[in-house]
Amino acid sequence: MAQERSSSSNLFLNKRMRRLRHSQWMRDLVTETRLNPADLIWPLFVLEGEKQKEDVSSMPGVQRTSIDLLIEKVKEARDLGISAVALFPVVDQSSKSENAQESYSPDNLMCRAIAAVKAAVPDMGIIADVALDPYTSHGHDGLLDSDGYVMNDETVEVLMRQAVVQASAGADIIAPSDMMDGRVEAIRGALDTNGNMNTAIMSYAAKYASAFYGPFRDAVGSSSALKGDKKTYQMNSANKREALHEVALDIEEGADMVMVKPGLAYLDIVKAVKDEFQWPTFAYHVSGEYAMLKAASDNGWLDYDAVMFETLLGFKRAGCDGILTYCALDAAKLLK
Ligand code: PBG
Repeated sequence: MAQERSSSSNLFLNKRMRRLRHSQWMRDLVTETRLNPADLIWPLFVLEGEKQKEDVSSMPGVQRTSIDLLIEKVKEARDLGISAVALFPVVDQSSKSENAQESYSPDNLMCRAIAAVKAAVPDMGIIADVALDPYTSHGHDGLLDSDGYVMNDETVEVLMRQAVVQASAGADIIAPSDMMDGRVEAIRGALDTNGNMNTAIMSYAAKYASAFYGPFRDAVGSSSALKGDKKTYQMNSANKREALHEVALDIEEGADMVMVKPGLAYLDIVKAVKDEFQWPTFAYHVSGEYAMLKAASDNGWLDYDAVMFETLLGFKRAGCDGILTYCALDAAKLLK
């Protein structure tokens, strides 16, 4: 390592912050935050059929696959040390309806995917999203009344049934992403009544009505149908105190883990939640955030590996115990 020549200046500094940045080993020694593959949760999209594979155009590098190919991905992720996958079904138009009844059919695509992945890769955590948007013909996360308003309590009844079929299929963690009031307690009760005491709940506790979800809605095919926005149930981006109330309620209602979503633009929320509650805290680095990194790097404007790593470290520094990210496999490979 290059030794600094004795300086001709008379500057005397008894604190030199750069001393600890002098060489790689020294920087390693004083590293405050480390990213580990075990911190990562990989969201995956599943299709009907066999040997089916489709690119998601707004998410370069992300593919929806049928269950057989999904299993291959999950094996690869497990071998790299990723802790869990979050599964999202691409539901055929013919199975969508006003009342989302496919969501609680024990034999639906999601349940078949959960069971198949659990059987093939038993030591991989499986997270199942609970919300009705993949199953509703109108693309909302809940049931609509005659004015098009998403009804809270009626929706929660359906979410309970959805959670129970997913847990019975083998999901380890139920992740309600719908933002209905009271759903965590209701789901906890339904799971326990069904004998799923050890099925955990990771609530999307502070989920904002965000334009960063656009590519995800393309990926699951819910965007074309969606009328209007989700602002009557997802949160206003301007609000932070409200996020703390949401998280407090979910913890009281029985959430084992809480999540903030989206990620990058909401790291202040992550930090506030972690500081306030000291509860297992997660963030979702969402589809639009992934798309931005990919678009810029595909244009040669950013170094994907470097910005991805820097982004994920930022999540950890802010207080995340884990991160849901479409970069999970890329990051795990880099870390290896
Ligand atoms: C469904 C759901 C959404 C996401 C996760 N679960 C979309 C939405 O609420 O409209 C977004 C994930 C992403 O953008 O990566 N309730």
